[in-house]
Amino acid sequence: MKLTTLLAPLSLVATVFAQGVIEQSLTTVNEQALELQQAVESWKGSFLGTLPIIKESTDILDSIHKGTKAAKGSPPLDVLGAIGVAVATQTLAQSVNTTLTTLIAAKPKFDKLLLSPAILINLSLQKAATTKMSEVIIEKVPVELQPTAQELIKPIDAAFEFAIQRFHF
Ligand SMILES: *[C@@H]1O[C@H](CO)[C@@H](O)[C@H](O)[C@H]1NC(C)=O
Ligand SMILES: *[C@@H]1O[C@H](CO)[C@@H](O)[C@H](O)[C@H]1NC(C)=O
Repeated sequence: MKLTTLLAPLSLVATVFAQGVIEQSLTTVNEQALELQQAVESWKGSFLGTLPIIKESTDILDSIHKGTKAAKGSPPLDVLGAIGVAVATQTLAQSVNTTLTTLIAAKPKFDKLLLSPAILINLSLQKAATTKMSEVIIEKVPVELQPTAQELIKPIDAAFEFAIQRFHF
């Protein structure tokens, strides 16, 4: 049996694994972003009511860090894997937009509790963590698709920048 024949199923497994790990991480971050959106949307403005928001906000940072670690350990993506990651990135970009739009709408309530500076700090932390995660994921994308990957990340970056400006005084 030829060596390449022996290795073919292995590389297939590696590809599916790579696709799975990065996509799964993005899906987790996406789910957490939507949970944060829910928490902010259902918040009436009480101090105790901020607890679920703080929890979701902390969880999201945690899952971004975990995603970065997972992506670092992932083998490079092939074209098919990169497409899967691209789709997951677009879904995430949509959720980040919705979540941050909801967060901006709730700013007057955060202002009343003097919590806006804390939200601002965490938005900056989340933006930095997302940038780091994106860099690691882009390194795993085939070189010819990296410019496209950069484009897909841009709306996420822009959404954070937009929200950070709104929370800045
Ligand atoms: C901001 O993030 C830190 C670290 O994840 C967390 O401990 C803190 O509760 C968060 N604060 C808010 C207001 O979400
Ligand atoms: C969300 O997307 C819309 C439409 O592209 C854009 O106008 C808006 O600024 C975005 N909001 C955030 C917070 O990114």
